Amino acid sequence: MDNLFQPYVLNDTLTLQNRILMAPLTRSMADAELVPTQAMVDYYARRADTGLIISEAIIIRPDGQGYPNTPGLFTAAQIAGWRAVTDTVHAKGGKIFAQLWHTGRVAHPFFFGGEYTLAPSAIGINGTVPRQRELNYTVPKAATTADIADLVRDYSQAAANAIEAGFDGVEIHGANGYLLDQFLHYSSNQRQDEYGETPENMARFPLAVVDAISQRIGADRTALRLSPGAYFNIEPDARDRQVFDYLLAQLEQRQLAYLHLGIFDDSMTFDYLGGQASAYLRSHYSKTLVGVGGYTPHSGSQAIAEHKFDLLAIGRPLIANPDYIARVKAGLPLEPYSDDMLSTLV
Ligand code: FNR
Repeated sequence: MDNLFQPYVLNDTLTLQNRILMAPLTRSMADAELVPTQAMVDYYARRADTGLIISEAIIIRPDGQGYPNTPGLFTAAQIAGWRAVTDTVHAKGGKIFAQLWHTGRVAHPFFFGGEYTLAPSAIGINGTVPRQRELNYTVPKAATTADIADLVRDYSQAAANAIEAGFDGVEIHGANGYLLDQFLHYSSNQRQDEYGETPENMARFPLAVVDAISQRIGADRTALRLSPGAYFNIEPDARDRQVFDYLLAQLEQRQLAYLHLGIFDDSMTFDYLGGQASAYLRSHYSKTLVGVGGYTPHSGSQAIAEHKFDLLAIGRPLIANPDYIARVKAGLPLEPYSDDMLSTLV
């Protein structure tokens, strides 16, 4: 498993101390003003020996909130709270990116006191908000072109705020059925304007966010997470393949820090992608790719050796084992993850 512990040069700006990344993990433990707490500072500091921490998803503005107590990056207090996290991670020799999030139709007006949520089309999802069981999801409002321009501006401002808060870069959350992903799938995007109907149009808003952020903070500090296989809060459609074929060809021409697959279990296969989502991304994108989803140190090391991806993100095992890196290096057994571990920050 030596390859996991080799440094990795992302680009001229960033070199990672090893190839194990902390996957973004929502923990819902920010305070009532969505400011990171001291417990969150300590939690991230304990994991500073990973090659790169990707923060839990951070909402770019109030109407992006879909779960309780998810942190933000739009107020001075939130920026200051994140500064305490990044300073501590840096003091321990680590690196940390902010994952920038808008949940789109998976948001709920309850959290921000608004009248509606925004999405590509007025198509809702069924079910209730986790941990707020009495709240049914609402039917979103289809974003106007002016709404989309505002969103691009707000993503870019949140990226600038992340740099002000001391983050080494940002990962745009374009995965897992949230706002940007909703534009990339036919089941959630039924627009008939320049943001819908064709692959080029459906990729327009996500690419505008990528480009606005790259211009604002540098492409070398900008990364993207994508779920070409629809698996969460969204229905698959075989035509989605063309959208991702187009989007990946566009991304190939840009110089992003990395591309990260969004999935819970990478053994899943998708007919319309011809197999695993990670293999599909690898065959359409030649630059740094981050794999994730059910990997052990052994299977992750093997996948890197076989060039299936370049960096390995680890999620649940890093919740269960704050000292994951030290344990794997020393060949010590890992504590198994269980959902009960989500109620406290260790
Ligand atoms: C997640 N995941 C996730 N993904 C993301 O892009 N942003 C997020 O905020 C979260 N939050 C989150 C919370 C919890 C409790 C879990 C378990 C997962 C998905 C995560 O990044 C990763 O893709 C999966 O956990 C699969 O990797 P592991 O856990 O099998 O290593």
